[in-house]
Amino acid sequence: MNSSKFLNCLDPDFQKDLKAEIKDLIFVEVRKIRREDLKNFVEAYLISYRGLEEYAYKTRREIKNYFNWLLKRDESGFMVAEMDSKTVGFIACDANWLSLFELKKVCEIHEIFVLPDFRKRGIGSKLLRSALFHALNMKRDLMELWVGEGNHFARLFYERNGFRGVNKVGKWVRMIREIQTTSLEECADRDLNPGQGLGKPLC
Ligand SMILES: CC(C)(COP(=O)(O)OP(=O)(O)OC[C@H]1O[C@@H](n2cnc3c(N)ncnc32)[C@H](O)[C@@H]1OP(=O)(O)O)[C@@H](O)C(=O)NCCC(=O)NCCS
Repeated sequence: MNSSKFLNCLDPDFQKDLKAEIKDLIFVEVRKIRREDLKNFVEAYLISYRGLEEYAYKTRREIKNYFNWLLKRDESGFMVAEMDSKTVGFIACDANWLSLFELKKVCEIHEIFVLPDFRKRGIGSKLLRSALFHALNMKRDLMELWVGEGNHFARLFYERNGFRGVNKVGKWVRMIREIQTTSLEECADRDLNPGQGLGKPLC
């Protein structure tokens, strides 16, 4: 059965919802960051962290410095999600990070956010898969991040994406996720292709 025949068998309301979701997902592209993304990063950061200010930078100057720091840490792990050329989210994944807890280089997720109007469509998960792809490329075997203790939604989001909490320092929870070679299946094909500038994994 081809896909349009399959869609026509479904309840019309469900068909409409499904088509809208498919359309949204098709148009989300993840590409490597460019310096010109700075302005969009600052604006999107401020909107995305509304209500979570205790875990975020507050001033435009701090956020600009943060953008430049992320760029210096690992430019190829810093990516942006776009939908119809509109910026909808960012991820910064640093494969050069030396974890003081693991005593080895890990893929550190310093940052991930999606604009509130574009959440719950799989964009955050897609950004995480892009980071996983980068980690595989860099031959890292662990992803690590720190999330605000009270950022319950993000903590659940990470757990659903294979992370688990391992330590707590002050108001921050450290979460990790092992990377296996089988993780490649998760980020293969549909999300990432060389045309989007992310290249093929080396392993
Ligand atoms: C955490 C964050 C990045 C998640 O982004 P997102 O784009 O909403 O993530 P996803 O859509 O992939 O997943 C979120 C939920 O939507 C659901 N979802 C995914 N695709 C969906 C779809 N097509 N339709 C409906 N729901 C969907 C997922 O099941 C998931 O729910 P769950 O976590 O209960 O399983 C986003 O909430 C955010 O920017 N938060 C503020 C910044 C922040 O806290 N960053 C982390 C700092 S450590």
